[in-house]
Amino acid sequence: MSLQSELLTIIKDVPDFPKQGVIFKDINPLLRDPLVMKKVISQMADYARLINIQHIIGIESRGFFFGIPLALELNLPFIAARKKGKLPGSVISESYALEYGTDCIEIQSSALKKGDRYLIIDDVIATGGTASATAKIVNKSGAIVAGFSFLIELTFLNGKDLLLKDNENAQIQSL
Ligand code: PRP
Ligand code: MG
Repeated sequence: MSLQSELLTIIKDVPDFPKQGVIFKDINPLLRDPLVMKKVISQMADYARLINIQHIIGIESRGFFFGIPLALELNLPFIAARKKGKLPGSVISESYALEYGTDCIEIQSSALKKGDRYLIIDDVIATGGTASATAKIVNKSGAIVAGFSFLIELTFLNGKDLLLKDNENAQIQSL
């Protein structure tokens, strides 16, 4: 069975969660399966090696589940992109639109090195708002977004288009 088929089996659709009309992708059964998790991290690592990166940014919170094992696999530094007010010291922030209202994501300035290549990783790309805001932080610092990696892409929301608007040279992987 291909990894994609395994993922389609193991990741469960939960209707009307967390609210009416939303179909939630439950990745917890995947996190409980070390064999499939290892295959996921291995495919992400193969892709990351191709695009020649020096740092991995995981987006709070579900991006941490994949970003940290990937960073360890590749022997690269892991950087946490966190929701507003969680990181001490100098940070670069970016706000993004939610269905209702806005949210804000931050990265420590000391983690962003001008000219270095970064991979941004998250579990899901939906509208692309979260990943796009994270990329804007990297771009503001003078560092380079070499690529994005997602476990799941909700293709009908066209989040990729939003990412490519500001990052036309970036690669996008979704498993
Ligand atoms: C979810 C998901 C992605 C983001 C995708 O995170 O984990 O980070 O939404 O949506 P977008 O492409 O429309 O921006 P959420 O904010 O629910 O938080 P969590 O990861 O902490 O559960
Ligand atoms: Mg998230």
